[in-house]
Amino acid sequence: MSPVIAVATEIPGPKSRAIQTRRAAAVPKGVANSSGIALTHAENAVITDVDGNRLIDFAGGIGVLNAGHRNPALVDAVRAQLDHLTHACFAVSSYESYVAVAERLNQLTPGRHEKRTLLVNTGAEGIENAVKIARYATGRPAIVAFEHAFHGRTNLGMALTAKPMPYKKGFGPFAPEIYRAPYPYCYRCPSAGAQSGCCQAAPGYWERIFAGLVDPGQVAAIVMELEIGEGGFIVADPGSVRALATFARANGILLVIDEIQTGFGRTGKLFACDHYDLVPDLIVTAKSLAGGLPLAAVTGRAELMDAVHVGGLGGTYGGNPLACAAALAIMDVMDKERIADRGRVVGDRIRARFDAMARRFPAIGDVRGLGAMLALELVKDRTTKEPAKELTSRIQAEALKRGLLLLTTGTYGNVIRVLVPLTVEEPVLDEGLDVLEAAFVAATGA
Ligand SMILES: Cc1ncc(COP(=O)(O)O)c(C=O)c1O
Repeated sequence: MSPVIAVATEIPGPKSRAIQTRRAAAVPKGVANSSGIALTHAENAVITDVDGNRLIDFAGGIGVLNAGHRNPALVDAVRAQLDHLTHACFAVSSYESYVAVAERLNQLTPGRHEKRTLLVNTGAEGIENAVKIARYATGRPAIVAFEHAFHGRTNLGMALTAKPMPYKKGFGPFAPEIYRAPYPYCYRCPSAGAQSGCCQAAPGYWERIFAGLVDPGQVAAIVMELEIGEGGFIVADPGSVRALATFARANGILLVIDEIQTGFGRTGKLFACDHYDLVPDLIVTAKSLAGGLPLAAVTGRAELMDAVHVGGLGGTYGGNPLACAAALAIMDVMDKERIADRGRVVGDRIRARFDAMARRFPAIGDVRGLGAMLALELVKDRTTKEPAKELTSRIQAEALKRGLLLLTTGTYGNVIRVLVPLTVEEPVLDEGLDVLEAAFVAATGA
């Protein structure tokens, strides 16, 4: 297979820059703009910009495109749906596809108990609704979230999110009754190496944390990402999660797992929960659920989901017919193409390359992630672990110049992450990894 990257102009080229100029005059600058390119076309893991540059996409619309850009099954399903019904408002009239998406999610998500699914538009809205349901069902006000967490940009989403810049600064006051617990970030744990295993898995750890945080009897739910997305692709230690789940059950606290970024094969299993044998009370999904159409879901125990009075949940667009058609098509593709297995295969290939790069580049302090949700944490010095934020941005810029769209992440802005479509062809993946390595060479001078 010949290279897919074709660089026709500098990137961003003149036509992209002209759109950026119009953008700056028409769109608030608060909406980030990490690449500066404007796209005209995309297919699987390849994107084309207005200047005719063809790039490889390791960003996947921030984790939305596990089944690739414009998956043919999605395109056909949405086209067909356009001829029948584009909107009804599910609170007014039902349509079968909403019910079918709910049935599929009830069946696919962890646990064989009876479930219900609510459909909404965005991940943040899914999290908001999970919190509403948890509070209603338990009659308790408090919610525990974690350091490094990201749960969205609504007021409650910001309250649950940890990082001030750029998500929270200047936007307060935030929703009350949110308490923040330490996340098992083993690479940066102060006691790393001082003991075997994660300190958060030790007996009594969570009891001690809650003793100084909030009365467990007041806590409706713990909201958690099992691999933190925007906070740096940090994988929760399984012992810590087990101990936390035991503590939650013992205290009548619901576990809400945010699988918005981790879901649908990204971690090499359908859900990150499957790595932990964890059955959450409520699970929130979005992003790759509908392959680019706006759709999110809260799926949970029937008795919790049904606790809320009629009219307490919903919204004008939630579970829009076009998004439901897309989700059903995407879930079929994921089933047929065994997307979780693809996550594992793609992840193994990237990890082998990352491990080799870590031997070559001393700036790589940590290689981590589950399945294909992989990242490199960059440091100025492997002993001090001082975050190398500027280097991370330079590598991202060098990659873009060479035709690779790449995302960074992390509380300290020093993590390079991969969210390539899991349907990527292997030569395309390898070509993208070659560019990433070339970007490291250019940025580090190694
Ligand atoms: C883990 C996680 N939770 C919540 C959200 C918010 O989703 P949305 O941007 O669809 O509101 C995101 C988005 O990046 C996410 O990664």
